[in-house]
Amino acid sequence: MPDPSPFSHPHADRRLPEGLRLRAAEQRDVAGITELSNLPLYRAGTQRLPFQSEDVTARWLGSGGEAASTVVVAELDGRIVGLGGLHRQTGRRQHVAILGLGVHDDFQRLGIGVALLDALLDAAFNWLQIRRVELTVFSDNAGAIALYERAGFRGEGLLRAYAFRNGAYADVIAMARMSWDLGFEPAQAGS
Ligand SMILES: CC(C)(COP(=O)(O)OP(=O)(O)OC[C@H]1O[C@@H](n2cnc3c(N)ncnc32)[C@H](O)[C@@H]1OP(=O)(O)O)[C@@H](O)C(=O)NCCC(=O)NCCS
Repeated sequence: MPDPSPFSHPHADRRLPEGLRLRAAEQRDVAGITELSNLPLYRAGTQRLPFQSEDVTARWLGSGGEAASTVVVAELDGRIVGLGGLHRQTGRRQHVAILGLGVHDDFQRLGIGVALLDALLDAAFNWLQIRRVELTVFSDNAGAIALYERAGFRGEGLLRAYAFRNGAYADVIAMARMSWDLGFEPAQAGS
């Protein structure tokens, strides 16, 4: 039997905002995701461009395709307060997904990031047969790095001047979590 909570970590029992709901992103979320993408802290932690339009969001949301992408929104009182996605790779890297994650500037540090991350790791390892989840994070984004490390991600290297951010080139750290990290192994057929 698979471990029912393979992603238990120090945040597993924290209280989430009442009414928080995680669900698949839909086309009707385009406005909410666009609002999120244009927030200053959100943009600084991600690769979003300034003045992202709803057209750009709609194309991004529509381009993944069912097999390639799992996109989850966190909704609170009808508002999109977080977004996370897994973008599955192809060919000999089909066991790999690239993870993206972000929480609304006004709703950070409430446990929404960890809830989204847990849901995405559960989807990846328990349902999609993904064995490696990888990401890049700005090397000075201490909060995000702490979140990922506490969920079992390990740093794999520094990529210098990876992206332009707020007037300067910024480094990122490549991080990854394997399905077998933290002692978790997916259930074998018949077990
Ligand atoms: C990074 C981010 C996703 C974290 O989401 P969040 O909902 O604010 O985080 P949580 O409340 O779930 O925090 C879980 C843990 O992560 C760590 N953490 C999160 N933000 C932190 C911060 N600003 N400083 C230090 N640790 C932090 C802590 O260990 C925290 O646990 P604690 O509150 O019990 O100490 C969010 O701050 C964010 O979206 N930032 C802007 C976009 C971004 O940077 N995305 C990451 C791209 S790689």
